[in-house]
Amino acid sequence: MLKPFALREHSKMQEVLMDPNATGPEIHYYMIRGGSDKTNVTVWETGTVGGEYIKTYGHYHVGDLDETYWIVQGEGIVLLQTRKQGANNQLIDDELEAFYAIKVKVGDSVFIPSGMGHLVVNTGKTWLVTIDDSPVNFEEVDPVSLPGHADYEAVKKMKGFGYYVIEESGEPKAVANTNYKNLPEVKWLTPSEFSELTGH
Ligand SMILES: [Fe+2]
Repeated sequence: MLKPFALREHSKMQEVLMDPNATGPEIHYYMIRGGSDKTNVTVWETGTVGGEYIKTYGHYHVGDLDETYWIVQGEGIVLLQTRKQGANNQLIDDELEAFYAIKVKVGDSVFIPSGMGHLVVNTGKTWLVTIDDSPVNFEEVDPVSLPGHADYEAVKKMKGFGYYVIEESGEPKAVANTNYKNLPEVKWLTPSEFSELTGH
């Protein structure tokens, strides 16, 4: 029987770190997937890797699929980015339309509209724990670690999101990923400001 549990190891995370050669924990985060019905649980390790806070890999959804994250322990920053569209509406992986950073803590939730790439950074002293409602299809090859509704390749190609979040004098700070062209400024929003923006 397929296990609903998966780990994200340092070797995989090196693809998207600001400093891929920095040493880090063997496992960056843990996932238990139950899909839209049972929900999914993610647990982040604490600390930094090469100055950058521990984060999830980050992905875009394939097709029309939104997702909600509920923060059940700890504090962090949800990073969201949308790509520019070129001719024939194809998405341009190295040019962003918008970049949002939303500071979250236990009790907050964030609705992620379809099309927004997303990852979450753990800026707290404890494990960050979230629940989300993205679907899981156990017929897939690797539904728990790399679900088919998620596109990781566009993020891998760019070596991460448009900005990395580093710790500077104990505070989080966004640092541009220069692999992207003409990056938009980071819009720092509260969860309620972001929910006003999305209408959810
Ligand atoms: Fe997702």
